[in-house]
Amino acid sequence: MTDRKVNVKPAEGKLGVLIPGLGAVATTFVAGVEAAKRQLGAPIGSLTQMGRIRLGKRTENRNPLIHEFVPLANLSDIVWGAWDLHGQNAYEVACRSRVLEQGLLDKIRKPLEAIEPMKAVFDPVFVKNLQGVHVKSGPTKMDLARQVMADIDAFVARTGVSRVVVLWCGSTETFTPVSDVHRTLAAFEAGLTESHPEIAPSMIYAYAALKKGIPYLNGAPNLTVDAPALLELSRANAAPIGGKDFKTGQTLMKTIIAPGLKARMLGVEGWFSTNILGNLDGKVLDDPGSFKTKEESKLSVLDTIFNGELYPQLYGEIHHKVRINYYPPRGDNKESWDNIDIVGWMGYPMQIKINFLCRDSILAAPVCLDLVLFTDLAQRCGWSGVQEWLSFYWKSPQTGPGLAPIHDLFQQQNKLENTLRYIMGETLITNLGLDYYMDEV
Ligand SMILES: NC(=O)c1ccc[n+]([C@@H]2O[C@H](COP(=O)([O-])OP(=O)(O)OC[C@H]3O[C@@H](n4cnc5c(N)ncnc54)[C@H](O)[C@@H]3O)[C@@H](O)[C@H]2O)c1
Repeated sequence: MTDRKVNVKPAEGKLGVLIPGLGAVATTFVAGVEAAKRQLGAPIGSLTQMGRIRLGKRTENRNPLIHEFVPLANLSDIVWGAWDLHGQNAYEVACRSRVLEQGLLDKIRKPLEAIEPMKAVFDPVFVKNLQGVHVKSGPTKMDLARQVMADIDAFVARTGVSRVVVLWCGSTETFTPVSDVHRTLAAFEAGLTESHPEIAPSMIYAYAALKKGIPYLNGAPNLTVDAPALLELSRANAAPIGGKDFKTGQTLMKTIIAPGLKARMLGVEGWFSTNILGNLDGKVLDDPGSFKTKEESKLSVLDTIFNGELYPQLYGEIHHKVRINYYPPRGDNKESWDNIDIVGWMGYPMQIKINFLCRDSILAAPVCLDLVLFTDLAQRCGWSGVQEWLSFYWKSPQTGPGLAPIHDLFQQQNKLENTLRYIMGETLITNLGLDYYMDEV
């Protein structure tokens, strides 16, 4: 035990979770939490609910559950709200998404039906394959941001929550690189007032949340809080932000396998990844603009893990290709194939094939839960800006200026666990371990 470094406020009162985008991921997350509250299912995949953390030396045998070690909000304290452009309640969306079984959904029908989305901020220029019927209108983008802030105020007043986290589970928007209007808060606010065409709907939600000092988490690969203006706002208003794009499925596998190949200095010549996916997300990603946003996020992981500049002979020229094919018969049950061309001793080629039959929203739901609970913890620690310690959950972790992101899942896990130890004043674990063998260490 070291001196406690962080003064964490207790998780008193209710925690509001406000979700732009009430689709397959959001309803699988919400329904799963409602089911877990009633012991109708187990929150498998969630570190906050199922994980333990080692404390002290291996001989001490101290391995508490994470939610007993750090002060996290209880599942029973979560209150839900959402925005969407379809107007259907969470029960209706969960039924048509066909992720969770109807029998389970019927047992939690009432709390799901109670979640009716508020009108969305939507612009079809940013998501080509959707049409909005339940959307806000206003003279400027600033006016739309004010309407979102008014929605948040009304939600807080109605539910009596003491804290709120906003979690984007909306569609992937078309690729919008950071430009002058995103660079400073002053330029961004002027852009909102002028309805600048490069301010995406997701940025309007993020602005509204951060302006109110509420954390914003970005489950899609949208460049939302990459905008320096929003980072500035997050720091100024003590509201944490995270990376982007939930790390599930094929990218999760990449960040498990690639570090192992790299650790053993096995070369990689190529990594070809393809998917079939038939849910609404797959339909949205069928548009080249939205796919480009996703592709950028998916391609980034291998470069930093292998670092071809430092190891040109092993990883200097990796041919990395990612394909997503919209194939309706599979619905949310994605199938992915990876072919990895690796090189061993004396340059001999070998191949690894991975065929992952996964369920997209089943993998994303525990990520949503952990991100919400840990980000609420971060805010109660008094932290703002980028939470790099939560890189574990993102395909594209965000970092401070000049820092390369860490993509290796095991380094990310180490960072996350040591951050929890740090918060609670426990000794950080380096895995040196020489003290078990040498008295003088
Ligand atoms: N499932 C996964 O494993 C996974 C992994 C990483 C990222 N994601 C991302 O998570 C997001 C959600 O995935 P999904 O499968 O639930 O998709 P989905 O299409 O089922 O749900 C997205 C919802 O967002 C709504 N929406 C779109 N624009 C909106 C706006 N401006 N305001 C409010 N609502 C809006 C849509 O109407 C839809 O209901 C997608 O961007 C996807 O790329 C999913």
